[in-house]
Amino acid sequence: MQIDIDRYEKATIEIAIEAGQLIKRLRASDVSVKYKGPVDLVTTADIRSQEFIIGALKAEFPEDDIMAEEGENTAATSPCLWLIDPIDGTTNYSHAYPVYCVSIGLFFEGRPILGVVYDPNLDELFVGVGGSKPQLNGEEIKVSETEKLSDSLLATGFPYNIREEPEIVLKQFCDFAVRAQGVRRAGAAALDLCGIACGRIDGFWETGLKPWDTAAAGFIAELAGAVASKYSGDAFDHFFPQALFSNGKIHREMIEVLRG
Ligand code: IPD
Ligand code: CA
Ligand code: CA
Repeated sequence: MQIDIDRYEKATIEIAIEAGQLIKRLRASDVSVKYKGPVDLVTTADIRSQEFIIGALKAEFPEDDIMAEEGENTAATSPCLWLIDPIDGTTNYSHAYPVYCVSIGLFFEGRPILGVVYDPNLDELFVGVGGSKPQLNGEEIKVSETEKLSDSLLATGFPYNIREEPEIVLKQFCDFAVRAQGVRRAGAAALDLCGIACGRIDGFWETGLKPWDTAAAGFIAELAGAVASKYSGDAFDHFFPQALFSNGKIHREMIEVLRG
């Protein structure tokens, strides 16, 4: 089976931009917050964005399966699976800290073939389509050339269970902080990975991520030349909760640090 990837790409871009503009608009009105866990939030905008994205995708591609963060999972019946994060960076969003995005990825027979991430605050659209160079606002992007960890700007995030199990995560953070040029913890993993894709960030590690966090941006980063793996260096898996992405040149050094 083949799919019309141009049609998928065009529709996904339109939907991601519209969802991004929706959440930005909603931010100006009241945002009510509920707690999924002590530091794991969901806002009315997450729900509105997800409803919009799923409604639009179902109208356009009714046969496809959907997995979305705020509780939408269809049974696996189609080779096409959408992975949707209606707001990546919800904690930032709930505080009006303008670092968040919409992330829509598409897997075909278990492999990513399309990724779209839209940051409505910077009006930045990252697009990756299998077989092509990824783009930021229509311009081709690629990973950085930084050779050494000591010259690198890294990004990471903390898992939502950090209060229960802080030790390993904080040790890794400290280990990188004293070896890299800088470490950023901006609060939206999809934007961190898009940062790898366009060379702003040289390396990224995080545990506890979900497939909707990495589906689009991880694919975009890999198309841009990123190396992706588990902490051990074994092959990256969107369904396994360990992500190590880099420009490739500092990957070995990052694995050594994570080895402890
Ligand atoms: C979170 C963000 C954050 C990362 C968390 C994610 P959410 O996604 O990407 O940067 O550290 O692990 O769960 O909950 O805002 O969609
Ligand atoms: Ca997320
Ligand atoms: Ca989210």
